[in-house]
Amino acid sequence: MFDTVTVGKTQLANRLVMSPMTRSRAAAGGLVTDLTAEYYAQRAGAGLIITEGVQPSVIGQGSIGTPGLHSAEQVAAWRRVTDAVHAEGGKIFAQLWHSGRVAHSSLYPDGRLPVAPSAVASGGQMFSPEGMLDHPTPHALSTAEVAQTVADFAGAARNAVEAGFDGVEIHGANGYLVHQFLSDNCNRRTDVYADRTRFALEVTHAVAEAIGPERTGIHLSPGNPYNNIEEGDPLGLYTRLLKDLDPGLAFVHLLEIGDRELVLRLRESWPGTFMLNPHTPAFPPYAGMHASPEAAEDALNVADLVSLGVMWLANPDLVTRIRRGGPYNEPDPATYYGGDHRGYTDYPAMV
Ligand code: PHB
Repeated sequence: MFDTVTVGKTQLANRLVMSPMTRSRAAAGGLVTDLTAEYYAQRAGAGLIITEGVQPSVIGQGSIGTPGLHSAEQVAAWRRVTDAVHAEGGKIFAQLWHSGRVAHSSLYPDGRLPVAPSAVASGGQMFSPEGMLDHPTPHALSTAEVAQTVADFAGAARNAVEAGFDGVEIHGANGYLVHQFLSDNCNRRTDVYADRTRFALEVTHAVAEAIGPERTGIHLSPGNPYNNIEEGDPLGLYTRLLKDLDPGLAFVHLLEIGDRELVLRLRESWPGTFMLNPHTPAFPPYAGMHASPEAAEDALNVADLVSLGVMWLANPDLVTRIRRGGPYNEPDPATYYGGDHRGYTDYPAMV
């Protein structure tokens, strides 16, 4: 875990990654703040930080308080974050997160419908201060609109580099737009995107072309039903996807859904750099559990890099704590999303 490793052309101080976590504290206009910079800079001991999900376009936003990377103002705001992390010797990738159908019209200035591969509602709801709102039946993207969406990812990737990020991770997991195209139940298309891996491949290709494959990673969650995703054959689908991705990408980041055998089988189809988020804690039926440092060390038997979420959230100095064998701060779920510095920048480091 404490060995250096090279990701693309970036040398990381260790193999322990901070995984992306929504914190819902962006200011109006999707702007990160000085508090965001402090939060990430506190965690710069990670070999690599992957930020919370960042919308690549206005319509890519799926919940309140999430930041963007589609305007000059947002780029300037993120620059303060990347500068703060780099000043502490850390490395940081932005996660590009398009929510697709897992969204609500009230998020957009023009009140339009969220978009998706097909007009199939998620059946879920979005949190809002006024109460829970049903995700509406989304607008099915036309073929031309899909091309624009791919271009939006590439544009946001260019913005990320301009903002000082070391690279980006494409969010292809957990039931959001890229995963919707991969799934059996959300993708009912009859055009070229009926080929379930095509959108993921086009987005990855466009981002890699924009900023270089060595600065482009992708996050996948084979078999994850979160956000009402159905996948009949995760092994077949993701084997095909992994074989068609450029092995020169910075990494493939896999979320394990309690099935190490599936991870091992998929690993055989990916010759490039491999990152594992061991045995997911965040989703039912695992909600409330979180992966331990022991699980992380074990993951490094099958992966080049290991990502942890909640452990990093609650322990800004996680590398030091693991080296010393703990102790670890207890995470407080009440402050995961939204609010102020409490539960964000006030978890103490060891003295
Ligand atoms: C969340 O905000 O809870 C969330 C966001 C992105 C994910 C998973 C969960 O991939």
